[in-house]
Amino acid sequence: MKYRHGYHAGNFADTMKHLVLLELLNALLRKPGEFAYIETHAGRGEYPLDAREMRTTGEYRDGIGRLLERRAELQGPIRDYVELVLRLGGEATSGELHHYPGSPLLATALLRPTDRAVFVELEPGERRALERALGARPHTSVRGEDGYVALRGLLPPVERRGMVLIDPSFEQDEEFQRVHEALLDGHRRWATGIFAIWYPIKRREPITRFHAELVRSGLRRILCAELNVYPQDSQVALNGCGMIIVNPPWKLDESLSALLPTLHCLLDGRGGTGTRCVWLVPE
Ligand SMILES: C[S@@+](CC[C@H](N)C(=O)[O-])C[C@H]1O[C@@H](n2cnc3c(N)ncnc32)[C@H](O)[C@@H]1O
Repeated sequence: MKYRHGYHAGNFADTMKHLVLLELLNALLRKPGEFAYIETHAGRGEYPLDAREMRTTGEYRDGIGRLLERRAELQGPIRDYVELVLRLGGEATSGELHHYPGSPLLATALLRPTDRAVFVELEPGERRALERALGARPHTSVRGEDGYVALRGLLPPVERRGMVLIDPSFEQDEEFQRVHEALLDGHRRWATGIFAIWYPIKRREPITRFHAELVRSGLRRILCAELNVYPQDSQVALNGCGMIIVNPPWKLDESLSALLPTLHCLLDGRGGTGTRCVWLVPE
């Protein structure tokens, strides 16, 4: 396993993923009942901007960096996301960011003390770093296992409310297949849970196949949100990214349809095909 999220943390794809994640968590927080937040591919939690990986690629400059430059213009959920990033990893007054907080830190910043969080991270160094970054938070555990295998034993959660984030590194060709199987198995165990899956957009063909398999799977209520910053099938590392959300909260389609074009505009996508938010399978 060569992938280290430190090379990509805070890039445009992270901004989209984390913005959607905060929308999902805020929807769960609107009701008083406690819930479970489960991540199958958690990463190390904190990404210092002066680390070698971050400096090597500088990808964060075209992501969170752009949003910080335009901080004064930000509104609504995008502003809330950027302010949370600064609160966790920088200084609100100067707007200077020292480290980018990964999804586990963003999520636990929102959870109430009674909500439970489970993070799975396979790579031992990343897992230890995540444990340090999280510190001693109640009802929070970090597991060093294969996220797909661990997920089977975690569902359904006792709380019966909550969400699963599946955010793999997509190093192997069969990752879409593993995600698809994990989703079907997870949904069989917990039909009412929210499942959010992040995926990279490089070539279009594997994504078209992934979507077609989801449509054929028999699952209902599958929302697809995408952000493209480079034209389709460009020869760059990442043209865009997408998220599949099964059982999305009420009106998430409307909020993402408004938020993603704004995010795209703020990130200044160079000739990309923009954004879309569509139901792959409705109710
Ligand atoms: C994209 S990164 C996660 C980023 C994180 N969710 C965030 O948004 O801050 C994917 C992580 O999955 C880990 N990983 C790769 N294969 C795994 C597996 N089979 N099970 C659990 N973790 C895995 C990698 O070490 C990497 O840290």
